[in-house]
Amino acid sequence: MPKDLKEQIAEIESHSLCRLTRCTSADEIEQWRVDIMGRRGELTTILRSLPDLDAKTRPVIGALANQAKVQLESAFDKRKEELASQLFDVELRNMGHLDVTLPGRSIPSGSYHPTTQIVREIAEAFTAMGFQTIEGPEVELDSYNFQKLNIPLHHPARDMWNSLWIKQETNDENASLLLRTHTSPMQVRIMENNPPPVRVLVPGKAYRYEATDATHEWQFTQIEGLAVDKNITFANLKATLEEFARRIFGNRRKARFRCDFFPFVEPGAEMSIDCFRCDGGGCRVCGNSGWIEILGAGMVHPEVLKGVGYDPGVYTGFAFGMGAERISMLRHGIDDIRHFHLNDLRFLRQFA
Ligand code: FA5
Repeated sequence: MPKDLKEQIAEIESHSLCRLTRCTSADEIEQWRVDIMGRRGELTTILRSLPDLDAKTRPVIGALANQAKVQLESAFDKRKEELASQLFDVELRNMGHLDVTLPGRSIPSGSYHPTTQIVREIAEAFTAMGFQTIEGPEVELDSYNFQKLNIPLHHPARDMWNSLWIKQETNDENASLLLRTHTSPMQVRIMENNPPPVRVLVPGKAYRYEATDATHEWQFTQIEGLAVDKNITFANLKATLEEFARRIFGNRRKARFRCDFFPFVEPGAEMSIDCFRCDGGGCRVCGNSGWIEILGAGMVHPEVLKGVGYDPGVYTGFAFGMGAERISMLRHGIDDIRHFHLNDLRFLRQFA
């Protein structure tokens, strides 16, 4: 048995443990690991020499060397932990004192887009008046966007809605597809699938091939309303819309009804609210008229009722379609509809 190998192991163990207690930084302790247990470290060299020993000596020296390795590794881990916690204490001391009563960092949270907020508010106002809210397709057939709404092919009334076409078939008009120019096609879809009475509200996106300005976007949000039953009159339409305006704008704003033409209603009307910016005096926002148009409305045309299988001699109804962003503009004093789509956080955070 080579006595010097046994002694060497004992010697490595004792001087390494002693040196470990003097290590005071992460660099020093890493250097210790390299010198003792690295690829060419003192203990590694002995372990590597084991295959050269004779069969009787190898297990004895091997056991001693491995014991030393386990002990040194555990001493290394312990010292490393001690050092880390000492260094943390020093860092804390350098930072001054730790005030555990300070409020934590707040977690940022999002909020609903102003358009979603106004749609929900309007839906709430109509829910209170007995309306049900449903949604419909944004890609629509020509037949629903126009024809079933009493607007035949080539009718000049189509010019009121500049359309974004997806597919225009001249031979098969029912196969033509477009991005819906208004939410009115849902009037037909609802009546085709439900017997009267109906009272529904349909919020959703509408698209028009239009130049943008302070009150026009090419993509905006409309909210369609439809009520059909026996004995519904224009007085019900006016009372419903006035109640809606009172709930959304309070008593501050004035509402105005004027005759208007839409092929799917008779008679037709538009409703405007006096301009929030100039209080009706005339400015850039209202195009100097003093009023901002918020919706088109009217009594459902007998031809539309017939088309869906309702008897116009028994049932009557009213419908309206309003621009959600325009209502939000009036409500919050927003002077340009384009703010809604710019994704500017300075604008959006005001609604958080
Ligand atoms: C229509 O779209 C009809 N479908 C409304 C209707 C429904 C009438 C039911 C009768 C019965 P109009 O094109 O006027 O109508 O649009 C209705 C409202 O949508 C407007 O009053 C306005 O508030 C909003 N709107 C229209 N075009 C734009 C646009 N380019 N940008 C923003 N809002 C718009």
